[in-house]
Amino acid sequence: MGEVLYEGKSKLVYRGEDENSILIRYKDTATAFNGEKKEELIGKGKLNAEISNIIFKYLAEKGIKTHLIKVVDDISVLVRKAEIIMVEVIVRNLAAGSFSKKYGVPEGTELRNTIVEFSLKSDALGDPMINESQITALGLAAKEELEEMTEQAFKINGILSDLFEEADIRLVDFKLEFGRAGGEILLCDEISPDSCRLWDISSGEKFDKDRFRRNLGNVLDGYKEVLRRLKNVRQK
Ligand code: TMP
Ligand code: ASP
Repeated sequence: MGEVLYEGKSKLVYRGEDENSILIRYKDTATAFNGEKKEELIGKGKLNAEISNIIFKYLAEKGIKTHLIKVVDDISVLVRKAEIIMVEVIVRNLAAGSFSKKYGVPEGTELRNTIVEFSLKSDALGDPMINESQITALGLAAKEELEEMTEQAFKINGILSDLFEEADIRLVDFKLEFGRAGGEILLCDEISPDSCRLWDISSGEKFDKDRFRRNLGNVLDGYKEVLRRLKNVRQK
């Protein structure tokens, strides 16, 4: 693998095959509240890698530009090296999490329209919400880039809401990261139960990282269920 170029909360980054690629390895570490709560969940890395790879391949088939080049092994992917835009894009289809808390809306409340919001990618500052004029004022992204990211986020939401619905899962909300590479904006990072809220359509059971954040127990059983159902619908 060579030397670690960068270590994040849930991934390690190594040199790739050339200067345009890097190798990402998923770790088993689970964190919440900007790293304050931390645990090793053996097998999480493999589950997230497999789930995210299914999703990224599916999105690529649907015309979304992503960083994924190829799957290397159970926990490693080769991806295009990109300059990560330090703005997280959050899409919400139902009220939950910080939105429910901040605005006093019960979790699960239907929304009249899909919400897209941005936060500054900074653990030290607790990923504070940031608006478009603040983002451009700080030079984090250009107006056109934000428009492109927003358009992609809506498109991805449509594609993934349908995919998860086939798996009897409601895509409640999720977080995306984008990067710049070769003059393009690519979808980067991962899409997994770590970065989405995924509820069983009929029972409302949570299959995502809220099991860890809220000490609901059997965290990885939820992730396994997501993978099992995604494999079912993708093999049809
Ligand atoms: P929130 O309701 O806590 O703002 O989270 C919205 C979505 O974003 C949820 O699906 C979890 C995901 N998320 C991350 O992937 N990383 C983060 O650091 C946070 C705070 C949320
Ligand atoms: N990803 C963040 C952390 O690791 C927060 C979260 O997902 O709840 O602290």
